[in-house]
Amino acid sequence: MGALNRTIDKANEALGQCLPCNAIIQSTEYLHSVTRSLLKTLRPPDLDELGLETALENLVSNWKMAHPEIDCSLIIRGDSRTHSESINFLYYRAVQEGLVNIVRHSRADQVSIELTFPINDQDRSSLLKLTDNGIGMLESDTHNGGLGLIGLRERVLAVGGTFTVQSHQPSGVYLIIQTGNTS
Ligand SMILES: Nc1ncnc2c1ncn2[C@@H]1O[C@H](COP(=O)(O)OP(=O)(O)O)[C@@H](O)[C@H]1O
Ligand SMILES: [Mg+2]
Repeated sequence: MGALNRTIDKANEALGQCLPCNAIIQSTEYLHSVTRSLLKTLRPPDLDELGLETALENLVSNWKMAHPEIDCSLIIRGDSRTHSESINFLYYRAVQEGLVNIVRHSRADQVSIELTFPINDQDRSSLLKLTDNGIGMLESDTHNGGLGLIGLRERVLAVGGTFTVQSHQPSGVYLIIQTGNTS
């Protein structure tokens, strides 16, 4: 690995003396960093290593640092280990998409995330409630934007869950996802 890095450094040094090559190196480095951050978005390493609770705490605390003007609370009840990795990943992606939407569209200054996992063996259902106090949206907006909410809805329905977006302008958006035994 060290030898490979030294060879790359030498090649970069030689190439760095030519201006067009420099531009190619910079573009390659940029693409490399974009690919790395995209890969993190697709499958956050925290999730497998530390579990959903810690992964969400990290996601939310990074988000709060980037958006100190928005007050955001995260409450997790129960234990995510009762779920498969794919369901936990679904909840992670839902919170991620919801937070991106809040910054992009809501103008909210308060956000609440509540995630409840099964507390005993009889109750197999889990529930995510993500709410903001922003400008709200119309039902038709779900189809007017990108594919974030539509994609999320499809993934939830594919695992037999329910997906609801409620909004009463101007009182914010309620994103509710339930999976497991929802009867
Ligand atoms: N929290 C929110 N507050 C207000 N409007 C929202 C919110 N979340 C989503 N929307 C509306 O729903 C649309 C669809 O969202 P989404 O499917 O995530 O697509 P995108 O974010 O790429 O526009 C958005 O364009 C926006 O109009
Ligand atoms: Mg979106």
